[in-house]
Amino acid sequence: MDQKTIIVELEKINQAVLSCQKCPLSQTRHNPVFGQGHPQAKIIFVGEAPGFNEDQTGQPFCGVAGQVFDRLLNSVGLNRNQIYITNILKCRPPNNRDPQLDEIKACTPYLEKQIELINPQIICPLGRHSMKFIMEKYGLQDYTQGISKIHGKIFQVGNLFENHIIIPFYHPAVATYNQNMFPILEKDFQILKN
Ligand code: URA
Ligand code: SF4
Repeated sequence: MDQKTIIVELEKINQAVLSCQKCPLSQTRHNPVFGQGHPQAKIIFVGEAPGFNEDQTGQPFCGVAGQVFDRLLNSVGLNRNQIYITNILKCRPPNNRDPQLDEIKACTPYLEKQIELINPQIICPLGRHSMKFIMEKYGLQDYTQGISKIHGKIFQVGNLFENHIIIPFYHPAVATYNQNMFPILEKDFQILKN
C-alpha cells in the first residue's frame, strides 16, 4: 500500500474513533486520542490509555509521561515524526483507572487496523496492559510474565502475511513515580538503536 492510501485509511479509522460509542468510556471522555506519527513508521509504541492531558488535547503522551517518552526517544536519536504512538484504549478511563477487559475488547479492533496499515517492523508495548494484549494477539501468551521480567526482551513473531519484532517496555510513567526507573528504561530503549 502506498503512503497516501495509508494516510487516507488511517483517517477513516480516526473518524470512526471520534464518534465511537462502543464502550461506556464514550460517556466520560472529552476527546478520543487516536494516535500520532509516521504512517509507515518502523516502530509503533502502544501505551495504555489517554490520561488527563491527552483527554483534554486529543494528543497521545502529551503530559509528564510524554516528556519521559520524548527523552527516551531522543536518547536513541529518534523523534515523534519517525515513529508512531497510540494506546490500547482511545478514550480516558475515569480517574485513570486500569482498562477493563470489555473496554479492551471493544476498542482494540482500532489498534489492530492501525498496526495492519502501518505494518511496523517493531511493536513496543508500554506497560503491562498493553504488553498483555500484544503478546496474546501474537500468540505469545505462554511467554507472558510480569513486565518486570520481560521488559527489554525481544520476541519475533510472524506468519505468511506479517512479521514483527515485539519488545515490551515499562510504561514511561513509572519513571515519574520512581526516578530510579529512568536508567532502566533508557537501557531498554538502546535496543532500538540497532
Ligand atoms: N499514558 C498512556 O498510556 N498513554 C497516553 O497517551 C498518556 C499516558
Ligand atoms: Fe470507542 Fe474505544 Fe472510546 Fe470505547 S474507548 S468509546 S471502544 S474509541
